[in-house]
Amino acid sequence: MNKSLLSINDLSKQEILDLIEFARNFKNDDGSFKKETLFPDKTVANVFCEPSTRTKSSFEIAAKNLGCSVVGFDASSSSIEKGESIYETVDALGLMGVDLCVLRHPDSVIRELDEYMPEMVFINGGEGSISHPTQALIDLMTIIDSKGSIDDLNIVIVGDLDHSRVTSSFVEGISNFSFNSLTFCGHPSMSSKYLDPALGRYEPDLDLAVQDADVIITLRIQHERFEEELNLDLDDYKHAYELTSERVQQARGDVIVMHPGPVNYIEISESVYQSDNSVIRNQVANGVAIRMAVLARYLSS
Ligand code: NCD
Repeated sequence: MNKSLLSINDLSKQEILDLIEFARNFKNDDGSFKKETLFPDKTVANVFCEPSTRTKSSFEIAAKNLGCSVVGFDASSSSIEKGESIYETVDALGLMGVDLCVLRHPDSVIRELDEYMPEMVFINGGEGSISHPTQALIDLMTIIDSKGSIDDLNIVIVGDLDHSRVTSSFVEGISNFSFNSLTFCGHPSMSSKYLDPALGRYEPDLDLAVQDADVIITLRIQHERFEEELNLDLDDYKHAYELTSERVQQARGDVIVMHPGPVNYIEISESVYQSDNSVIRNQVANGVAIRMAVLARYLSS
């Protein structure tokens, strides 16, 4: 295992499965998380240079559950606002005794930082629209929890594919497994990277894409990543790409519906979010377990 978790491609299939199994050990039968003071001498910094609710909070809770000290770091109230580069910021945290840095950044800076700071462990908490490895681990864990395995599943991903680091890391992760089908669906202006995918197929019609699906992953439109104002009629968009109860009826009866959050109720209806098919809230809870497993593994290697 590398010193840092920069990408899902850093992990073998066995390492992915081991991390998921390890994460399960941190969950009690009642859904609460084990609290074990395994790393009282370790300090974790959460360096988030983009907004976050679930990822940031779950890393913080995970680190505290493991007995680490946690430095909550808000870029908007840090010296980054005074023009300091991320390199000096992270270097300063290292000099203060931070052992592991969870980094979310709009640009691809994490690899260079990882090389520049041999003593610091980095965990990628979201790299622009490039990658989000711990979210992929959560998503794989949630699918395996519900379906027993990934084998033979029909998986659909629908939404703003081009800007979704959740999609790119999920595809890297799932490429280790023998699923039955992988279908990408989305507005053509948000699907340019997936029109002719190396893995799976593109289907522009959501009604066709969801036929016989076992897993449907929905994604919000990432307005903040569009370079130009989105010229889109949201009613037309919803008509074509919202996952509604009627569309869920076209999938397998035991289909699971996923979403990494935050949910906008444009890409998914409230009734689907709240339905028995939805495992979206399980994804949130698995976030803490996966991040406990990742932190524990990388703090001890
Ligand atoms: C995702 C992200 O930040 O990439 N959210 C998350 O980590 N839970 C997806 C999104 O912002 O739409």
